[in-house]
Amino acid sequence: MFNIILFGPPGSGKGTQSEKLIAKYGFKHLSTGDLLRSEISSQTPLGLEAKNFMDKGQLVPDEVVIGMISTALEQNPGVSGFLFDGFPRTQAQSEALDKLLKLKQTAIGVVLALDVSEEELVKRLLNRGITSGRSDDNNEEVIRARIVEYHKKTSAVADHYKQFDKVVHIPGEGSVEEIFEALCAEIDSRQ
Ligand code: AP5
Repeated sequence: MFNIILFGPPGSGKGTQSEKLIAKYGFKHLSTGDLLRSEISSQTPLGLEAKNFMDKGQLVPDEVVIGMISTALEQNPGVSGFLFDGFPRTQAQSEALDKLLKLKQTAIGVVLALDVSEEELVKRLLNRGITSGRSDDNNEEVIRARIVEYHKKTSAVADHYKQFDKVVHIPGEGSVEEIFEALCAEIDSRQ
């Protein structure tokens, strides 16, 4: 089993590249953002709670997302590997994920970190906001709040995995195809 964290700030291309990686390698895609949006559209209590945080560009509490990931891991036995997208996002989430994977006698193989400048992130997200219907994309203040959350709480996740020598930085600006090839080269060299 080979597990990957696709890491990077909001708008760095995690979702775009995840789709291509899943198609090529058959990983099970676990995106906490997608799971939360699905809870919101089903109007579950969890979704209604999460929406309050997401609309302000803030992270949803750790226990909520850790619970969701724990359930998703249980629901997907026998996969060739997990591709985590948008999770973990805090030190507590990283530690919880390591424990959950250890119970399954596996671990994170590599953290692929997409590097993109802040101005490019804002440009991409505002542009997507024109058509996406995502309430956290159509307001520059909320987009910048998401980036602040990333620097305050999420960049620590890379530090956590650096101690195990698991982090590889990939330039996240350029064509989608170029970036995809760079990601594949890193995965192929480790499997
Ligand atoms: P989430 O859904 O994870 O959103 P995000 O991290 O803000 O990421 P995005 O989906 O906006 O960006 P992305 O990096 O996937 O880029 P994408 O490929 O889409 O989280 C949303 C919210 O949910 C959070 O704010 C938080 O509240 C909550 N949440 C989620 N997980 C959580 C967790 N673990 N803990 C707590 N709270 C959590 O691309 C963006 C745009 O750029 C697209 O339009 C795309 O077409 C374009 N693009 C992609 N690649 C390129 C390229 N190479 N060149 C030009 N444009 C490009």
